[in-house]
Amino acid sequence: MAEFYGIDLGTTYSCIAYIDSDDIVQVVSNPKGDLTTPSVVSLDDKGKWTVGKAAKSRLGSDPDNTVAFIKREMSTPGYTVTLQGKSYTPVDISAKILEHLVEFANKKRKDEDGLPPIKDVVITVPAYFGSMERERTKEAGIKAGLNVLQLINEPTAAALSYGRKQNNDKKLMVYDLGGGTFDVTIMEFKSGVANTLASRGDHHLGGADWDRAIVDYALEQIGSKWDNLDKSNQGMMMISAEEAKKTLTDEDEYVLTFNHKGLQNVTISRSEFEKRTETLMEKTKMLVEEAMEMAGLKPHDIDEVLLVGGSSRMPMVENMVGKLYPNSEVKLVDPDRAVAKGAAMTAAQNDKGYVEGGLILGMDKGSRAYGIQALNDGNLCVYNLILLNDDMVVTKKFDQFNTAYDNQTQINMHFYESECEDEVMDIDPSCEIPELHDNQVISWGRPVPKHTPVSISVERDKSGLVRVFVECSGAKGEFVLDPTRRGMIKR
Ligand SMILES: Nc1ncnc2c1ncn2[C@@H]1O[C@H](COP(=O)(O)OP(=O)(O)OP(=O)(O)O)[C@@H](O)[C@H]1O
Ligand SMILES: [Mg+2]
Repeated sequence: MAEFYGIDLGTTYSCIAYIDSDDIVQVVSNPKGDLTTPSVVSLDDKGKWTVGKAAKSRLGSDPDNTVAFIKREMSTPGYTVTLQGKSYTPVDISAKILEHLVEFANKKRKDEDGLPPIKDVVITVPAYFGSMERERTKEAGIKAGLNVLQLINEPTAAALSYGRKQNNDKKLMVYDLGGGTFDVTIMEFKSGVANTLASRGDHHLGGADWDRAIVDYALEQIGSKWDNLDKSNQGMMMISAEEAKKTLTDEDEYVLTFNHKGLQNVTISRSEFEKRTETLMEKTKMLVEEAMEMAGLKPHDIDEVLLVGGSSRMPMVENMVGKLYPNSEVKLVDPDRAVAKGAAMTAAQNDKGYVEGGLILGMDKGSRAYGIQALNDGNLCVYNLILLNDDMVVTKKFDQFNTAYDNQTQINMHFYESECEDEVMDIDPSCEIPELHDNQVISWGRPVPKHTPVSISVERDKSGLVRVFVECSGAKGEFVLDPTRRGMIKR
């Protein structure tokens, strides 16, 4: 019988899980015996790549040739890192992490059961990832030699893992605070089907920001600043701060020892740490409230709050959530593995339509609006084709668009990704999908009169990948909303 693999490609830690032939969810341990692997990649001067714990230790010894937190740069236009004099994109680095995870899983398959290498996988992404980051995550999977069956939102995957073997109907909030991203998703389990009601998030809010708050505190105590540290010291300080943060989950105090103009010792208490990170917690609270509003729910409607992501272990998370939802059960379940397990369950569901004892994933929700530039009553505006809280899988056709002036021979398409709730919004340059390509033009060559119909349709698949189809005067174009890949595929 087939096995089904799911990968949680995390900002700080990644994890690979599978459903075995007995329908049991297993997490693959790495060669160090750990169930999660640091998402850190390093290249040495002999051209040897290292990924995981060994690479993480090189953040201090060879920071110029070591990369961490690459997931945060997935949609940064033109972003590259230079390792040993050669530049690499976030897709290249993410592919290295995926290759590493699959490599040790493959070794186990071969050694223990004589099985061929893994091909099909489901990879997880933050619910808040937009079209570009999703395209690139899929591309990283392909680059690693994998067939990406589907991308699935991390909180949804965690909810599927948690909901296995549960029959009760309920409304569930998934509060997912990972290493680099925060997502909140409101879900409903009903008659064995899990549906998403709303999703909000921030892909620059995670454990690393809490680590950085500790670094800033320590530096302040010795009268120094982040910018005074060289790259190697910054790397080592962040590693020590993460250790401090984890210890403060169980202890009241931690003495941070680090080297900066001599050996330094700084004591930080849990209460000081909580005070310093209040604004970060407040940001998660605002997003939780926005998601609740989008779902049209009040606190007493939530039966359970599921805390996932390693950073949800911090006591301040349960304290805050407990106060917001005093009548709900707050549970921290399998915080760093639930996502990968849910991805494996999704892979099985893709293949055979169900997982023994598991919930069926009904409909996920998107967390972004997608629009095109158009004239509305003579004013240039953005017309949102996909709305903020539309179902993830959506197909729409629009017949109301026309050419704007006489003798028009082409349309230059401008795409926007935003969090705007309205169908028609003002042009906001910060929402425009950057780097317009020449081939974002659809052209039919022969002049046509004003008001010639332009047919536009849009599709979003279960992975959250968006395609826009435009047709005018016999010319057809399909647009992928990732400018670094390709603008238009001629049909
Ligand atoms: N005991 C602990 N107390 C506090 N934080 C912890 C603890 N254990 C792990 N963490 C933090 O959890 C984070 C990692 O969690 P997780 O593996 O869920 O994130 P990720 O998947 O890498 O990130 P993301 O989901 O944001 O892409 C790190 O910031 C880590 O320091
Ligand atoms: Mg995660």
